[in-house]
Amino acid sequence: MDFEKDWAQQAWEKTMQKVSETSQRIGDRFPHASVDGVYKLEPASWWTAGFWPGLLWLLYRESKDESFKQLAESCEQQLDQVISDYYKLDHDIGFMWTLTSVARYKLLGAEDSKRRGLLAANLLAARFNVNGNYIRAWNPWCEGEDNSGWAIIDCMMNLPLLHWASEITGDPRYKHIAIRHADMAVEHFIRPDGSVNHIVIFDPQTGEKLEVNGGQGFAPESAWSRGTAWAIYGMTLSHLHTGDPEYLDAAKRAANFFIANLPEDYVPHWDFRLPEGIPAYRDSSAGAIAACGLLLLDEQLGGEGSALYRRAGERILHSLFTNYGAWESESEEGLILHGTSHFPEGKNIDVPLIYGDYYFVEGLSRLLGHGELFW
Ligand code: GLY
Repeated sequence: MDFEKDWAQQAWEKTMQKVSETSQRIGDRFPHASVDGVYKLEPASWWTAGFWPGLLWLLYRESKDESFKQLAESCEQQLDQVISDYYKLDHDIGFMWTLTSVARYKLLGAEDSKRRGLLAANLLAARFNVNGNYIRAWNPWCEGEDNSGWAIIDCMMNLPLLHWASEITGDPRYKHIAIRHADMAVEHFIRPDGSVNHIVIFDPQTGEKLEVNGGQGFAPESAWSRGTAWAIYGMTLSHLHTGDPEYLDAAKRAANFFIANLPEDYVPHWDFRLPEGIPAYRDSSAGAIAACGLLLLDEQLGGEGSALYRRAGERILHSLFTNYGAWESESEEGLILHGTSHFPEGKNIDVPLIYGDYYFVEGLSRLLGHGELFW
């Protein structure tokens, strides 16, 4: 066994062992950020609801442990309660149903999951603004707010649900929307140096671009590392589903920027452009997401990639395993320490995040050559 497979296999075994224990505590609920060792729970309508069941499906695929399957299925069933909740659901429908219903459909061929996935795809498609070519991100967060012109880079990861729906139904409408949104993102989100805007605001009537908002990054002109990671993986997935080289170029630009700005241990700070005096916490989740994107980008490039992206993806995952893993701490429910969810709002800073855990496990499963992508 070569070195890479050796450590990845060890990491996989440690993950399996830890989740066997933590799954008894977390159960079929919806963890988000682990504070003082315990995962705080969110309602089923929160954007992170798919990551825990998605992680359980990745482990079930190899272990066939029925308890993982039952928990993941129960999480998916609970999402039925929110699919009709017009006010709470936003563009993150993609994250939520790809890692529950699409995953179960791909693994087990379950018809009820296929139906749920298609319904979710309809709701996501319905958020498309035809004049601005963007999928609207959120609904108003408070009374009177109008964010109907807001689009965010994270949405690139929601597009695979639309590609899947077109593939399953033979109806191209879904993928047409995914392509129009991705083209818009290449134009308005990926900057020439490969850094990425988090939020772009359009006039929802005319579709004209109005301004850029810093969102979860430090400032509009800074470089939120998780946003760059969403761009790397999302653009690479758009290339996977369409074969359009424009997305591959955009992914490479974002990847080059990301890799060039990594610190020595290969795990990014929460923003790559922080002024002096602002705490440079790590965001391990950005590292895990980017690693998955880099591994796929390398595969997409075939022989042309000189393995640069694969090596970077492996190094990030290896560093997360050796320097950031909570393997020795029985009282910690998270797998990967030091994620930063939302620094500007002071939320969930320097803690394990369920999406960091999910993408770490997905990255390992890619390194070990386990089955097909859920995306
Ligand atoms: N999609 C929200 C985030 O990355 O925090």
